[in-house]
Formats: sequence, structure tokens, C-alpha cells
Amino acid sequence: MTKYYLTTPIYYTNAAPHIGHAYTTIAADTIRRLKCMQGFDAVLTTGTDEHGVNVERAAQAQGKTAQEYTDVIAEEFRNQWKILDLAIDRFERTTSDRHARAVQELFIRCRDRGQVYKGTYSGQYCIFDNLYVNEAKPGDPCPECGRPTETVTEENYFFRLSEYQDRLLDLYDKQPDFIQPETRRNEVIAFVRQGLQDLSISRTSIKWGIPVPDEPKHVFYVWFDALTTYMSAVYGEDLWPADLHLIGKEIVRFHAVYWPAFLMGADLPLPKKIFAHGWLLFENDKMSKSRGNIVRATPIHKVLGTDALRYFLLREVVFGQDGSFSYDALVGRYNSDLANGLGNLASRTLTMIHQYRGGAVPSSDGDSHIAEAAREVAASALDAFDRLEFSKALESIWGLIAAADKFIVERAPWKLAKSADADSKKLLDDTLYTAAETLRIVTALIYAVIPNSASKIWEQLGYTEPISGVRTKDLHWGRLPAGQLLGTVSAVFPRADAKLSIEKMRELEVEEYARQQALLGKTVAPAETKIPIDDFLKIDMRVGLVKEAAAVKGSDKLLHLQVDIGEPKLRSIVAGIAGAYQPEALIGRKIAIVANLQPRKLKGLESQGMIIAASVEGGNPALVSFLEDAPIGARLK
Ligand code: MSP
Repeated sequence: MTKYYLTTPIYYTNAAPHIGHAYTTIAADTIRRLKCMQGFDAVLTTGTDEHGVNVERAAQAQGKTAQEYTDVIAEEFRNQWKILDLAIDRFERTTSDRHARAVQELFIRCRDRGQVYKGTYSGQYCIFDNLYVNEAKPGDPCPECGRPTETVTEENYFFRLSEYQDRLLDLYDKQPDFIQPETRRNEVIAFVRQGLQDLSISRTSIKWGIPVPDEPKHVFYVWFDALTTYMSAVYGEDLWPADLHLIGKEIVRFHAVYWPAFLMGADLPLPKKIFAHGWLLFENDKMSKSRGNIVRATPIHKVLGTDALRYFLLREVVFGQDGSFSYDALVGRYNSDLANGLGNLASRTLTMIHQYRGGAVPSSDGDSHIAEAAREVAASALDAFDRLEFSKALESIWGLIAAADKFIVERAPWKLAKSADADSKKLLDDTLYTAAETLRIVTALIYAVIPNSASKIWEQLGYTEPISGVRTKDLHWGRLPAGQLLGTVSAVFPRADAKLSIEKMRELEVEEYARQQALLGKTVAPAETKIPIDDFLKIDMRVGLVKEAAAVKGSDKLLHLQVDIGEPKLRSIVAGIAGAYQPEALIGRKIAIVANLQPRKLKGLESQGMIIAASVEGGNPALVSFLEDAPIGARLK
């Protein structure tokens, strides 16, 4: 079998998965299923990008090691894809040993070929985009995200990117579909034509990364590290080069310029194609953490099912362009296209066969016009799918559904069923067969987009073999066997009450947001979640007296306190307040603590509670204190 290897970007572990990540991964899962249908042995890689200063800082802020922090978020991504039932073959973490080896090997190959050298870099750097901004001056904003850049000076390894301009332009020229869609290709060509500068591929300023061989002070630049995941995930298998890297448009430069250059430098085969899709906007605004308008996939999964989301994303948004997500539009599409369109065709067709033919598919060649329409739609939809024009493919499939509906109404089988003559009987057989065969072809065609629902319809059509085994050749008209006994009919897409389902999704969204924030070690502002008083009463807060305080070895953030809260033994509490308080100054001070948290280990010390302090991101914490005398152990409520 011929292999088809495709990848999604590997997602940063300093944020939790949302619908934007789901968009790419769902599209990749769909392509994977389509390729299997074409007879390829398709393999899909995704994973997590876990190194870099962002993760290091986020972990520090939580008093966790970078590894502890990133373990939680990587697991969250893995789970997310499980919940959404995505067929992920390889989930690679950049913290895996084999990945580190692969990155080091890539570097050694470049080094052996004289493609890297040691130099000094002094300039502006954006820690959020992990991007050196060569043209920027101190204080200038990052061109990608607008946040201020930081000035760094360090000894770095450089990759001789400046020598690759011609080879890259030649690649884009000889392989016009190397970068898709065309707009992205043109942007990349314009960028490379301006000339390329050598690229720093190691850092000495951070520790959380993969060590550079023979250079203990250096770790790899996150993009040199991250891009290599596409190879490390299939290390030792015969899958490289990738057939497709699916990405969002903001990371085209890394994939279409740096990555092929690194591979050329190491004398390794290049991926075949890079496809950059657009951004998913929320109600016409770019989703962003600061706007607080990020939507997550699981509430939608719970209320309407993952297939509703998959269908919406691939039907509503032209793949490659930006598109808007809104709950209204989602429920609208669900009701009109899935519940009324496909759902209706399925239930009325199958119910009629049960009613008029005892649940057995009648024998007939079917209607030749509909057969011809089905042949054309199958060909054009497969063609559109191949070009990743999902919305076009779905539009044409829904055209076939409409044609079948119209045909059924015109033939009026309910009238034919009332006549006992041979002509009517034959016409009823033809009508029912035509409807069922169209339903079969439609179901097979949309399986890759809505796999769970398609499987259900498939079973209702009487198949016992899973729909995943269907191949393109099975799309030919007339493959539905006469006499096949249908399964039990049930509604695959029950109609959704728009108001109620949107309310429910919004409610679940608030919960999901709070859950993810907790994973990231952040608390949700009280106004965003209302909790019942019982929840508040679960938190046992007490007045405590600090008896001992000391710095924690190996940490410049943590202090270790022994606190008296009126219990026989002092409480050991590790708190991230070393930046704001000297240990001696705390001894004898009254503070407030949360006393019933599950204990956890920080730097090998058990922490049996949490200190309550006012905290501002990036600023110093301020401990709660009491103006009146508050007795040790008194409860705060
Ligand atoms: N870690 C890098 C990628 C390294 S690949 C070797 C990274 N990670 S990320 O977590 O920021 O993920 C970015 C990708 O997530 C985008 O390229 C896109 O695939 C997907 N999306 C995240 N938000 C999105 C939208 N709002 N809209 C569309 N896609 C989005 O960049």
C-alpha cells in the first residue's frame, strides 16, 4: 500500500486546546480518512511543542518545573483529540528522548556539511512568537503580535540561511504546489526574494530546551526543535518525507522557508506540500486570549456532537481563507443541512423501505438520471476534496441530497404504495432503490467529514462491515445489494432548539474555560463564573501565624514557611513570594491560608496549604493581613 503521511502543527503547551487547534486537527483527520478511502496507508502526526521561554515562565509562575507543567497540558491536548474522536496515529512531544535525538542528528548533519557556524547575536527578540526581529530597534514591537520585543545578546549557532535564496526560489518554481493556497505562495516568494539573513538556531539565555551536541550551554531554538517533530514522530519508519504539512497561515514562513532550508542543509528529502488555512474568527473578531473570546470544542461536542462542528467548520469556511464561527450559524447549519437535509433523507428513505418492503432493499437498477447525478457528484466531490476544497465538495454532495429529495417528492412513493398493479410496484421499487442507493453514496462520500453520523446511517442501511472500509470504487452506482436487510431506523441528527442549545453551549463553555484555566494554574475572575455558596464553603481558609521562614534551595521564587493555624503540628507551606518578601520579615506575621487543599510537592518539599495574597501578573504579591486582632486558626468566610 502506498503511504500518505500528513501532519498538523504541534501545539504550544502554554495554552489549552480551543476550537482553532481543533479546526486544523479536524481538517487533518478528514484528509486522513479521505486518503484511506483512496486506498492509501495514511498516517497522521500531531503533538505538542513544549520548549521555550514561554513555557519556562508559565511553569515558574505556578511554582512548577517546566516538565511538570507541560506534562499536564500535553495530556490535555491528547485527551482533547480522544474526546473529539480524531484518528491520530502519532502524538509526539518535543520533550521525548527520541525527538531530542532527532533534533541533534539534524543539527549534526547540517554541521557536518558546513551549514552552521558559531556567532554572536545582539538584537530584538519576541518571546511570545519565539522570533528574532532582525530589523527592530530596542523597544520596537514584534511585527507578528505587537508586544514589545526584548533585547538579547548571546552566542548562538547560526544556520546559513542567506545561502538558500536561489535554491528555495527554484523549489517554489519547480514545484508550484509546494505552498498552497496561491496567496501564501506569493507571500513566501516575495519574502524570499527580498533576501535572507542567517538564522540563529541555538540559545544560551534559556535552559528549557534540547541541548546542542558538544555545547552544554546551548539549547536549540524552538523552531529548529519543533519542526523536526515531523520527522521524529516517524523515526525509523519509512514515512518521511511528509506528503502534507497542514498549518495555519501565521506559521507559513517557518514551514515554507526555514524548514526546507534546514532539510536541504542536512541533505534530507523535503515535504511534498504545505497547505496553510486561514484563521477562525469568533463572531468576526480574531480569537485571542486578551479579548477573552476563545471558544472551545468540547461544549459543542456535548450539545450537538463533534460531527456538527466538523461539518460546520468544513462547510462554512472556505479552506484557506479566514472564516467566522458563531453559535447561531453553527446551530443554523446543523438544523438546515444535517437535521433537515441529510437526516431527513435518511429517515424518510429507510422508514419507507421498512413500511413498504418489510425492511429489505428492493431489486432495481434505480433511476438513470439520479444515477448519473450521483456519478457526477461523486467525481466532482472527490476532486474538490483532493484539492482540499471542503466547502465546495460538501456543497455538491448536498446538491445530490436535494436532487434525491425532489425525486422522492415527485415520485410520491406513498401514493404508489396504495396501488397494487405491477407498474406501480415496479416504480415503487425503483424509487426506493434510487433513494437508498443515493443515501448510500452520500453517506460514503461524507464519511470523512462526519464519521460518527455516517457510521450510524451505514448501519441503518444494513451494513455490518464498518464504513471505514469503504473505498472510492464502492461509490459506483448499483453497489447496494438487493435484499439487504436494513437496521433499525433512528434519528441521527435530532432537531436542535436553537435557543436552548446555544444557552447550554455557553454554559458549558464557562465551565470548560474555568477547568482549563485551573490546568494552566490561573484562576478565573469571579465575575465570569458564578458559584453557589456551597462551593465557596468548601474552601477552608484560616488565620495563621508564621513561625519559621526560609528560602528554598534552587529557587529564587519560593519560600518555605512553617505556619501555626491552631493545629497540634505546624503547617509546611511552600509559596512563590520570595520576590516580594524576605524570610525574616515574615516571622511573627499573621497571614491567611487555604487549609484544605490537597498537599503537593514543590522542589521536594511538601506544601500543605496555600497562602492568600493579592496578585497581579508580572507584579509582586501582597499578603492578606488583618487590622484587628484575628485569633490563630479563625476561619475566614
Ligand atoms: N508550536 C507552533 C507550531 C510548531 S509546528 C512545528 C505553534 N503552536 S500554536 O499552539 O500556536 O498553534 C498554532 C496553530 O493552531 C495554527 O497554525 C493553526 O493550525 C491552529 N490555530 C490556532 N488558533 C487558530 C485560529 N483561531 N484559527 C485557525 N487556526 C488556529 O504555532
